[in-house]
Parts: sequence; structure tokens; C-alpha cells
Amino acid sequence: MIDGAATLINSEMSELVGFAMSHPVQLPCFFVALFIFHISEFLLALLIHGSEKVSTSSFLFSKEYILAMTCGLLEYGMEAFYVPSLKSKMHISFIGLTLLCVGEAIRKTAILTAKQNFTHDIKIYHHENHELVTHGVYRFVRHPSYLGFFIWSAGTQVLLVNPICTVGYMIVTWRYFAQRISFEEYFLRQFFGKQYIDYARRVHSGIPFVK
Ligand SMILES: *[C@@H]1O[C@H](CO)[C@@H](O)[C@H](O)[C@H]1NC(C)=O
Repeated sequence: MIDGAATLINSEMSELVGFAMSHPVQLPCFFVALFIFHISEFLLALLIHGSEKVSTSSFLFSKEYILAMTCGLLEYGMEAFYVPSLKSKMHISFIGLTLLCVGEAIRKTAILTAKQNFTHDIKIYHHENHELVTHGVYRFVRHPSYLGFFIWSAGTQVLLVNPICTVGYMIVTWRYFAQRISFEEYFLRQFFGKQYIDYARRVHSGIPFVK
């Protein structure tokens, strides 16, 4: 009885190990992408704002985020076991990798363009040196850093060929940014008045269906 269970677990384990060996790129790529994203967010904040203004919150790990990433890994594991053929679609993983690079590039370009006018938290009081940035990538969309993250986060799930989490992530991040933009822009209109209203009239938010 116990022997039988052990054999079963053993064969399941060897199937899993065999799977991991035949699909060596997805999981390592996923963890490398996460590592690059979080380290670079923190280092850029440190570089731009200095150590006295930056806290470890600039690594951008939240409870919700860790929960989402755990869901992604669970979906990957379940499907790798029950529908392994899904995970051998390397062309889809390649699209995911492309999305990761594009999203990361847009977000980091935005941060480097805005410099000290970009912060990880929304400012609700006006600082005298906070200027409205409308040049560079900000000429095309008002929230390039959100657009970049939106693309990047979907990319993490496309890389893993996770259909459920890809859709789930897009819904959750869309809702998050739609709410955040309306909250943030309330203050931006207070700080910059007509300058902001004109800018918002001219330039799209960058998040689909959010004017
Ligand atoms: C934003 O902040 C930086 C300081 O890091 C400043 O030099 C820059 O000119 C500011 N304004 C714009 C519109 O980029």
C-alpha cells in the first residue's frame, strides 16, 4: 500500500523532473525577469532620489503582487502536469519574452525621462520642484510607466504560457491602473491646473479604454 503510493509519487516526480528538463527556459526566464525588474526599480529610485528618500518599498513587492505571482506559478505547475503540451508552445513563450522586454523598456524610459518628477508613490501635496513632464515618451501617453508595467506583467504570464493568469492579470492590472489614474490625476489637476487639463485632452492615458 505505502509502497504503491511511494511508486506513484516517484513516477509523478520523475515525470515532473523530466518535464522540467525538457522545458528548461520558461521558469528560469520568469525568475530572471522578476529579479531584473525589482532590482532595477530599486536601483533607479536610489540613483534618482538618493538613499535618504528611498525605502525598501521601492522594490515594489506588495502582498497582492506576491499572491498574483504565486497564482501564476501554481497555474504553470498544474498545466505542466496535466496539459504538458500547452507548455511546449515555445513561440508563445517567445512572445512573452518580447512583451517583457518591451514593457520593461517603456517603463524604464519613462522613469529616466521624468527623473525626480517620477516617484513610486502618488503625491497628494505639491512639492515646489515637482514639474509636469510632457516630453519624450510622455508625448505619446500620460502614464508610460503604467503602460510598461501593464505589458510587462502580462508578459510574465505569456512567457509561462498561462492562459488563465494572462487574462486574470490583464483584468486586475487594468482595474488597478484605471482607479490609480483617476486618483492620481485629481491631484495633478490641482497641482498643474489648465496645463494638466490641456495635456490630458491632447494625450491618451496609455491604458486601454482609460481616456
Ligand atoms: C524633473 O526633475 C528633474 C530633477 O531630477 C529636473 O531636472 C527636470 O527638469 C524636471 N522636469 C521635467 C519637465 O522633466
